[in-house]
Amino acid sequence: MKYYIIFGPPGAGKGTQASAISQKYNLKHISTGELLRKEMAEGTELGKKASELIDAGCLVPDEVVEGMIEAEFARNRDVDGFLLDGYPRTLAQAESLEQLLGKRQECVTAVVSLIIPDGTIYERIRHRAGIEGREDDCKDEVIANRIATYHKKTEPIISFYKAAGKYSEVDGLGTVEEVRERIFGVLG
Ligand code: AP5
Ligand code: MG
Repeated sequence: MKYYIIFGPPGAGKGTQASAISQKYNLKHISTGELLRKEMAEGTELGKKASELIDAGCLVPDEVVEGMIEAEFARNRDVDGFLLDGYPRTLAQAESLEQLLGKRQECVTAVVSLIIPDGTIYERIRHRAGIEGREDDCKDEVIANRIATYHKKTEPIISFYKAAGKYSEVDGLGTVEEVRERIFGVLG
């Protein structure tokens, strides 16, 4: 199994690029944000607990997403691998993923990081707010908290994957197609 990670700040284009990548490499796309929004839409206990944190732009507890990832790995076996989007997002999550994969003698294949400036994040998320109606896209202070959370809690993962020789950066600016070709160039 291949385990690719599409990495980057909020609004970088992870979800947008994920479908083409998963199609090309026959991967199951797992977005922890999408899984959480599904729980919220269905009004499950987990969804109710998560919504306050998500709508404020904070991360949900590590154990919550770790459990979701393990369940998705178990549920999808008829693929060549997985494309993780929005996970891992803390060093603890990255270490938990290592352990989970290590138990099966597997490991992360590659991490592709989309680079965009914070100003572009606001533009893209404000634009999407009018289309998708995500609660966490609607307020500038929530977007600001998501960006700050990314810099503080998620960016430290970069050195973790750099040290493992698995980390590549791609310019996230330009058209969707241009960014896609850059990603394919890195993944081969
Ligand atoms: P999540 O859903 O993962 O949100 P995010 O990381 O904030 O990322 P987004 O989905 O906002 O951005 P994206 O990179 O997918 O961009 P997109 O392709 O849509 O997480 C939401 C919340 O859930 C978190 O805040 C947290 O609370 C919780 N959560 C999730 N995972 C967690 C975890 N592991 N641990 C703890 N908590 C977790 O693009 C954005 C917009 O830009 C779109 O409108 C798109 O059309 C447009 N666009 C894309 N590419 C281009 C381009 N090249 N040019 C112009 N426009 C573009
Ligand atoms: Mg997304």
